[in-house]
Order: sequence, then structure tokens, then C-alpha cells
Amino acid sequence: MCENTSYAMPRIGDKAPEFKAVTTQGEINFPSDYSGSWVILFSHPADFTPVCTSEFMTFASMEKQFNEANCKLVGLSVDGLYSHIAWLRTIKEKIEYKGMKNVEVNFPLIEDITMEVARTYGMLQPGESSTKAVRAVFFIDPKGIIRTIIYYPLSLGRNFDELYRVLIGLQTADAFSVALPADWRPGDDVIVPPAGSCGVAKNRMEGKEDMKCYDWFFCTKKLDKEKVLKTVLKK
Ligand code: BEZ
Repeated sequence: MCENTSYAMPRIGDKAPEFKAVTTQGEINFPSDYSGSWVILFSHPADFTPVCTSEFMTFASMEKQFNEANCKLVGLSVDGLYSHIAWLRTIKEKIEYKGMKNVEVNFPLIEDITMEVARTYGMLQPGESSTKAVRAVFFIDPKGIIRTIIYYPLSLGRNFDELYRVLIGLQTADAFSVALPADWRPGDDVIVPPAGSCGVAKNRMEGKEDMKCYDWFFCTKKLDKEKVLKTVLKK
């Protein structure tokens, strides 16, 4: 691939670009191997680096929680397979961090020495680094559509509670046809679709519907935490 080839960065609502890759768990065809599941595809700058190590240990420790929400994890860096294997072995055998130890990373870590996948997904941002991927996070739905993209710089580790909140939020918005306000967490009120006619707006403002309206265009309703968790986590 030429140095100056330009890539259109994928956007929210796009189909996740397809690729075939070698990973620490064997070869994958992305995203077709994950059809029917949510996937979080994330990049990290380099193996054997401290922020990335803290992130991998955290993600691996939370993998079961993500899997229970029908979500698989797939990591990527521009390092090679043997570096990946050696780094993951070191993490398991040697690193104890914030109460996490013997952490086994069971999700696939893509080798991307050619940087082809990183470029396709806009994970290489030359102003930050031309040789290392930034910390990108793509949330891809069971139909292979990109639903959320978050980027972090090299110097700042991700907030994994937020990544989990985003996943549960996307699934909740889909399942209940609602939108979710600032800082929403399961159990908080949700936003109902805007009034589509003057009559509906009037009814809402007169308190004739089972919702709380701050104004005609901003109404919320209750959505039980149990109902959310039962739907999203099948619990
Ligand atoms: C890190 O993961 O520690 C790291 C990686 C690349 C640049 C800076 C920090």
C-alpha cells in the first residue's frame, strides 16, 4: 500500500469495513465471524507498554461481563503475532496490578504489522503518532453496523465502566425505542421520542400521558432497572 493512500474513516451508521486477520486466537474474518453478536473492536498503541497493559488487564477481567451482554472483544495493535503472544504471557505470568493477577487474555488480539486494518479504521492519527495506533473503540452491532466510536490519545487509558455503559445504553435504546439522557445508567428515566403532532405535544403538556415533561419536546418516562437487565442481559 502506498504511503500517501488516503482512507475514508468509517463513521457511525456505516457498515464495519471487512478484513481478514491473524490473531492470538487464530484467523478471523471481520465482522462476519461476529454476526449476531455485538463487538467492541479496539486498538492500542503497542505491546509491552504500561497504559496498554493496565487496559488489557482491565478488559480481560471484565470480558465475562461484556460476553453476558452478547458482546465480544477484539483488540488490535500494529505489533506482530509473536510480540502479542509474549506480551500476553508476561501479563499472565508476571503482572499484578490493582488486585488483578494471573490475568489471561482470551479475546483475539490482531497483528497488524502492515497497518492496513488500523488505516482502514482511522486508528492511525499522524498528529498523535504515525507509527502507533491511538486508543480507538468501535462498537459494532449484531448486523455489522458501527454504532459508536470513541478515541483516546496515547497518554490516557480508557474508562471501562463507560465502555460498558455505552454498550448497555445502545442495547437499551434499541430494545425500548428510547433515547438516553446525560450520564444515564440502568434504572434512570429515559427520553421518549419527541411529540410528532401539536395534539400529542398538548396532551403531554397537560399531563395526559404517563411521562414527565420538562417542556413539550423533552419528556421522560420510567424504565425499571430489572426490565433493562432482563432484556439486555437475559437475567
Ligand atoms: C502506554 O501504553 O503506556 C503507551 C503507549 C504508547 C505511548 C505512550 C504510552
